[in-house]
Amino acid sequence: MIGVVFLGPPGAGKGTQAQILEQKYGARQISTGDILRRHRQAGTALGKEAQAYMDRGDLVPDDVIIKMFEAELGDGTKGFILDGFPRTVPQAQALDALLARLHLPLTAVLLFKTERPELIKRLTARWTNPRTGRVYNEISDPPKVRGICDDDGGELVQRPDDRPETVTKRLDVYEAQTAPLIDYYKRSGLLVPIDAMQPVEDVRKQIVAALGSSVAS
Ligand code: AP5
Repeated sequence: MIGVVFLGPPGAGKGTQAQILEQKYGARQISTGDILRRHRQAGTALGKEAQAYMDRGDLVPDDVIIKMFEAELGDGTKGFILDGFPRTVPQAQALDALLARLHLPLTAVLLFKTERPELIKRLTARWTNPRTGRVYNEISDPPKVRGICDDDGGELVQRPDDRPETVTKRLDVYEAQTAPLIDYYKRSGLLVPIDAMQPVEDVRKQIVAALGSSVAS
């Protein structure tokens, strides 16, 4: 079983890799961003509360996210790949406490290292199938027909927070509120840097190599 955190800025490729790897490891991808978007689509109270924060590129408050994450993890015994959580030091402390209570290991924290101009390029070229969550990229991984999903023939959409001005804000928020987690996890000895500037398949290989030595049986 693996218990892994994917840490990195918006557009680093966390979701792309989590989707590829969840089958290989039989672990669940838990993306707090995807869960919030599902709540928004369903019009729940949580979705309505989160909407303004997300559209501005701000983080949703810790207490809301931590409660939502605990419910989503359940007993966690299948293993997990955390994509977008934790994102602040209080969230990381809450995760530590929760895993200790459930007797679950955190086996590694993979730091997706990238450069800002590449992130902006990736995010503003991202298209998603809102029905299945499949992610494309106009430049690096385009669909066969522009704006149409190869799998179900339905329309692809751009996320509202991928507008250039919101992207810049999200990257600033990452530096201010999430980057401090790099030191937090360095101190625990779990941090493994990944060169996320490489093509998708090369990044996948680096992750598999990194997890090879840290997978708990
Ligand atoms: P969330 O949905 O988590 O967004 P994010 O962290 O900003 O991450 P992204 O989904 O934008 O990027 P990614 O790293 O997954 O990249 P992807 O694989 O898609 O969060 C959205 C919002 O929800 C937040 O702003 C906040 O408001 C709220 N929120 C969520 N979690 C929260 C929390 N814990 N606390 C508080 N608030 C929270 O790739 C991007 C593009 O690049 C794609 O087009 C892809 O095809 C392409 N690509 C991927 N890899 C490569 C590669 N190696 N080479 C070239 N292109 C690539």
